[in-house]
Order: sequence, then structure tokens, then C-alpha cells
Amino acid sequence: MQLQDKVIIITGGGQGLGRAMAEHLAAKGAKLALVDLNQERLDETVGLCQAAGSEARAYICNVANEEQVVATVAQIAEDFGAIHGLVNNAGIIRDGLTIKVKDGELSKMSLAQWQAVIDVNLTGVFLCTREVAAKMIEQKTQGAIVNISSISRAGNMGQANYSAAKAGVAADTVVWAKELARYGIRVGCVAPGFIETEILAAMKPEALEKMTAGIPLRRLGKPQEIAHSVAYILENDYFTGRVLELDGGLRL
Ligand SMILES: NC(=O)c1ccc[n+]([C@@H]2O[C@H](COP(=O)([O-])OP(=O)(O)OC[C@H]3O[C@@H](n4cnc5c(N)ncnc54)[C@H](O)[C@@H]3O)[C@@H](O)[C@H]2O)c1
Repeated sequence: MQLQDKVIIITGGGQGLGRAMAEHLAAKGAKLALVDLNQERLDETVGLCQAAGSEARAYICNVANEEQVVATVAQIAEDFGAIHGLVNNAGIIRDGLTIKVKDGELSKMSLAQWQAVIDVNLTGVFLCTREVAAKMIEQKTQGAIVNISSISRAGNMGQANYSAAKAGVAADTVVWAKELARYGIRVGCVAPGFIETEILAAMKPEALEKMTAGIPLRRLGKPQEIAHSVAYILENDYFTGRVLELDGGLRL
């Protein structure tokens, strides 16, 4: 798909990887519908996309809320006239061991801690994919959906909730690629390793060094490198049902 003038929705477009994707796609001439919870951050990203010469609009929406997702996708279709792509990027972490024993005291991951991550990282992806695909089929527009999974989908200690959600996203990429191909909608997935985002910038240099030592390429990924992969999937018309692993060669 040629990205010039195509309408692409990015969830979690306010900051981090979503913002890098927005800037990258804007530079390629795509029109961006940015979905997030934080108005201020969204407005900043809209400004960056406009500076890159593209049209962008901000939408406040919780991807885990069915009513909000239904209304937001309908609003985006009305505002832009069409939807050609979606990047399911919004995500949260609530890390912790399922069972932790410290000084003889046993604690458990709470159901709320489990559910919050499943709701945003898995149910949110389902809801956005369902609504966008339905709208694209209704409007007879073709395009692509890109899900953001993670290297943690292989099973990362302290991330039972996150690993389950990210594995689910990778599996459903295959399901939706099969189900939606007949409508001209491709579905791909990017599984990033450790990427240089704000969270990591706050880490101590020693801890960061330890983390990067295990990566064959000996460095963290850059948000622009993830954005590059997202654009690749959107642009390459033979890519569907597969996960692109962008992790510097790291295996968990
Ligand atoms: N940064 C990494 O190293 C890394 C590695 C692997 C995967 N990922 C994945 O990449 C994606 C982006 O990560 P990031 O590092 O940019 O995170 P981030 O926390 O910097 O940004 C996530 C964005 O999603 C938004 N968001 C959170 N919950 C939402 C909700 N319910 N509805 C709408 N928006 C919501 C947040 O407001 C925020 O702007 C996530 O899915 C994450 O799991 C990141």
C-alpha cells in the first residue's frame, strides 16, 4: 500500500513508539488519527505530524472500552472519509511475580493487575481490530492492520499478564490475517525487543548496561526502527499473518 494520503489510526499515539510511528508515517504522506488517553501528549504528536507536512487529528479513547472504541472509529471514518490502516500500539505494563515469597511472606499477583493488562493489551487490540475491519469492509477500503506484540510473548518472568496478552496478539494476527484476507485487509505484527523509550531512559546506566550485554547487537532498539518495521508491513502487499521480530537478535 502506498502511504501517501492514506488514513492510518495509531492507538497509543501520544508518546513513545506510537509517536515515532506517527512521525515516520506522516513523513511518508499518511494522514494520522491518533488515539490515546492523554490530550496534551496527543496534541504534541499532532503538532509533530503537521510539522512533517501531514494531516493529523487527536482522539481521546480508552481502547479497552467497547463503547468508546465503537464511537471513536465511527468518528474517525466520518472525519477522514475512509480508514486504510490501524496500528494497535497502545499498551501498559503491571509487572510482578504470580507468587512472591519474601521474608517468609507470600504475596500474589492480584486479579486487577492481571485483568488491567489483558483488558488494554489484548481486549483493546480485539476491539480496535474488529471495529476498524468492519468499517473498512463496509466502506470497501483495503489496507492493513499492524499489531504490536513483544519479545515477552515467549514468556518473561514477572510478566504473566503481559506475556499472555502479547502471545494472544501474535496468535490473533494469524487468525485475523486468515479471516480478513478475502476483504483485502492484511494483518501483520511487530514484536519489539528492548527499545529506547522514556521508561528505559530513567534506568540507571549500570542496569541498562547489564540489559544490553545480552543483546547480540549490544544496544537497545530505536523507536524509529520500530516505526520503520510498521511502515514496511503497511507498505508490503505480500506481508500478512506473520510476526516481524525486531530485537537485535535477543532471545528470552
Ligand atoms: N518500549 C519497549 O521497549 C517495548 C518493547 C516491546 C513492546 N512494546 C510495546 O509497544 C507499545 C508501545 O510502547 P511504549 O514503550 O511506546 O509505551 P508508552 O507507555 O510510552 O506509550 C503507550 C501509550 O499508550 C497509551 N495508552 C495506554 N493505555 C491506553 C488505553 N487504555 N487506551 C488508549 N491509549 C492507551 C498511553 O497513554 C501511552 O501514550 C506497547 O504495546 C508496548 O507493550 C514496547
